[in-house]
Amino acid sequence: MRKKIVAAVLLWLVFPTAESVYSQPFARPPVNVPAPVKRIVPHQPVSAPFDAERFKGKTILLLAYSIDNPRAGEAVKFMQDMYRIRGEYNFEVLGLNINDNRTDEVVKFNQNHNATFPLLLENPKVAAKSLNLAGDLSLYIFNKQGGLMSSLAAVNIPPQKNFTQALHVFVNRSIKTGFIPADEPVLGDRPMAPVFDLPKLDGTKMSIQELYAMMPVVIVFMSPTCGHCRDELAFLNSLLMGDEFKGKFFVVAVSRFNQEQTNLFIKQQRYSFPVIADTDNSISSLFPSFAGSVPMGFIIDRSGRIYAKHTGFSGRMMDLYFMELRKLCGLPNKPLLNPKGYSGQDRCVICHEKEHIQWSLTGHADAFKSVYRKGREDDPACVSCHVTGWGQQGGYAINDKMNRRFLEGVQCESCHGPGYEACAAFTGIKPHKKSSEEWKALCLSCHTEKESLNFNFARRFPKVLHSAASGIASMSREQRVKLLSEHKRKNDLFGNPAAYIGAESCKKCHEHEYAQWSTTAHAAVAHSPAAAAAPPEKKYRFTTGSGSPGGYPAPGREGVQCEACHGPGERHIQNPEKKGQDYIVGLGGSCDSCVVEQICRTCHGPDDDPKFKFEQYIETIRHKPQQ
Ligand code: HEC
Ligand code: HEC
Ligand code: HEC
Ligand code: HEC
Ligand code: HEC
Ligand code: HEC
Ligand code: HEC
Repeated sequence: MRKKIVAAVLLWLVFPTAESVYSQPFARPPVNVPAPVKRIVPHQPVSAPFDAERFKGKTILLLAYSIDNPRAGEAVKFMQDMYRIRGEYNFEVLGLNINDNRTDEVVKFNQNHNATFPLLLENPKVAAKSLNLAGDLSLYIFNKQGGLMSSLAAVNIPPQKNFTQALHVFVNRSIKTGFIPADEPVLGDRPMAPVFDLPKLDGTKMSIQELYAMMPVVIVFMSPTCGHCRDELAFLNSLLMGDEFKGKFFVVAVSRFNQEQTNLFIKQQRYSFPVIADTDNSISSLFPSFAGSVPMGFIIDRSGRIYAKHTGFSGRMMDLYFMELRKLCGLPNKPLLNPKGYSGQDRCVICHEKEHIQWSLTGHADAFKSVYRKGREDDPACVSCHVTGWGQQGGYAINDKMNRRFLEGVQCESCHGPGYEACAAFTGIKPHKKSSEEWKALCLSCHTEKESLNFNFARRFPKVLHSAASGIASMSREQRVKLLSEHKRKNDLFGNPAAYIGAESCKKCHEHEYAQWSTTAHAAVAHSPAAAAAPPEKKYRFTTGSGSPGGYPAPGREGVQCEACHGPGERHIQNPEKKGQDYIVGLGGSCDSCVVEQICRTCHGPDDDPKFKFEQYIETIRHKPQQ
């Protein structure tokens, strides 16, 4: 009998039927339970209503926790932060509480932490089984198909470490949330490397600072059982043994195993550099980027600053190490580029840092994130203009996307051509200087009328010139981090050389659109209490053309009028027959994602309107065809 029950429970785990799982009165019966939720087995939705639909086809971040764990509060706050940005990065957030029969307490706990993400209750034993739960606080990431991508058990994060930061680092690895740990170089800023003591053979200690001062140091976090770690160390060892780098840099490997195992490992490997054990996590805790995954390498220059960070190890990384170490050691540094394909921006940055900093501040650097946000990263119709080398030999390819991740985004080689042709130091030939017409043709290959909002070459070209970000050298790290996170905010979306004239001027020629618009929330906003209560810096959301010629605060520009979506109309009414975006932005034939949504998001952005769902909302906005 007992056996039967167990079997039934197991079956239920794998194939929960709609009734058994969603019998709660406030839960909507799901049409099609998405695979990850199926795996997670929600028994008792407590935050009603639980909308299973929205987890379909989404990456899911799941926190399984007990409120008895001392770090549960911090984890719940972190999840709420993730909940806030989930739309931007196209994932969903779910809590799974494993405090049996303590619903009220759990709900209260979440309320106390201002947590509003959906929460399910689970029997701890069932959760332990279905999730392989280690301890009573763990974070999981499931991919769109419901497969487990990675998991992190809180018990494995040492108590000295900043817990929230470790969670950020963990999530950022699978879902690029844009989190920048304190030990990551950013826009040319090199953070100071942590300082710790190294044991010497005679039993005394020396500070690693003494090493930094002598020559560049590579610190590698590793474990003796990890193959990539051994590859990386063997590679670095071969550099130290070879003629080029002999005596020019140090390597310190930090093993996360106990001294005995580490000693055995050292004996077997015979490296020419020390391998030190970090059993108490006192060293690894000093590096915010390190959240347990190995290998992770840091290259530190002679002033003790972190010059580069490497996660994992691959053949490509050898080329990066060569060039980075040659640079820091002052050796001749001919570029190592892919002789037949695209090389990737992480190589170019080594020698073209100034250009790279400016590029990082353009939308081109984040172009892949945009298709990812729309869940279209596997759609060739979208990816083509948002990656580097599409359709070219050795360029980005969807069918090999894991190996081509280094070509995501519109990189250097999208404009300059593959490095093996473009880089003068690689080819030995000064590249042909493109004429302005040639540049324009290149831009227009992606910035088509359909996909680009008012692409005016003369106005846009200066934004991509590498001198455009010249003030950065004098900025602090904090200022740079802020700049990087804010660069996407656009204020001159339309860039039309016209003035705003107000919806009343459009009425006489566009009666139909005017009548339809008058019935929408946008017209009503002119007199809404929310608009009246908006602080000055948010007035633009409730008005038209805020801050531009003819726009708000000019009288009659209250409310979200025609020109908030179509751009300023002065030139258009003077010349209604003239076509092209410089006159009025038509939107009829535009790509919804690339153009129309961009306009909506200036007001319905993730901070102001986190619930905004473009695909749904746009249908209520369209001007229905004239009868
Ligand atoms: C190891 C160093 C190194 C790397 C890596 C490197 N370059 Fe270069 N690159 C140079 C040097 C040196 C020059 C020559 C500069 C000069 O003569 O003015 C150069 C020149 C260029 C030029 C011509 C500049 C001009 O004056 O017109 C372009 C374009 C260029 N590189 C692009 C790239 C791209 C794209 C990548 C990455 C795929 C890259 N480089 C990687 C060192 C490098
Ligand atoms: C390979 C395709 C491609 C090419 C070539 C290209 N772009 Fe873009 N560009 C894009 C995409 C995609 C975006 C949108 C980025 C995003 O997703 O946010 C963009 C965005 C921009 C932006 C807005 C960025 C910002 O930070 O506000 C400017 C300006 C721009 N491009 C100018 C140019 C110019 C000038 C050229 C030619 C010299 C050019 N682009 C060539 C694809 C391209
Ligand atoms: C012909 C090239 C091309 C194709 C194909 C294309 N895009 Fe774009 N996309 C662009 C360009 C160029 C921009 C920049 C628009 C501008 O000029 O501001 C852009 C912008 C975007 C943005 C807005 C980024 C922002 O600044 O907020 C999103 C989102 C986006 N594209 C998604 C998509 C999706 C989804 C598809 C497939 C349906 C797609 N793109 C297909 C070229 C393209
Ligand atoms: C949107 C197109 C675009 C992208 C992307 C781009 N560049 Fe450029 N780059 C230009 C233009 C335009 C020039 C100026 C060429 C001229 O004056 O004829 C230029 C000039 C250069 C030069 C010559 C020296 C200089 O600074 O003027 C180098 C080197 C260079 N780029 C490297 C890079 C690297 C490295 C990246 C990636 C981090 C990159 N570029 C990304 C358009 C681009
Ligand atoms: C004097 C008459 C007149 C006025 C006033 C006028 N329009 Fe138009 N508008 C036209 C004509 C004519 C067309 C072209 C229709 C066509 O191509 O079929 C047009 C086309 C448009 C289009 C479509 C453009 C395209 O490329 O598809 C938009 C959008 C538009 N107008 C918006 C506005 C807005 C917003 C205002 C007020 C600021 C306005 N119009 C004022 C006459 C006018
Ligand atoms: C919230 C954004 C928004 C506002 C406000 C808005 N429109 Fe539009 N308009 C659109 C979109 C999106 C389209 C593209 C066609 C569609 O989806 O209906 C469009 C299309 C048009 C067209 C072209 C119709 C066609 O099929 O080519 C005209 C003309 C136009 N709008 C005029 C106006 C006028 C006049 C007003 C103000 C009374 C106005 N619009 C207000 C978003 C807006
Ligand atoms: C100039 C700012 C602005 C622009 C541009 C804009 N909206 Fe709005 N929209 C608002 C404001 C303000 C409201 C009132 C509700 C609020 O405060 O969020 C609103 C309300 C709405 C509503 C009614 C539902 C609700 O939340 O009350 C829809 C639907 C909507 N917008 C869709 C769109 C779409 C689709 C676009 C792009 C085509 C767009 N909006 C562009 C500011 C804007």
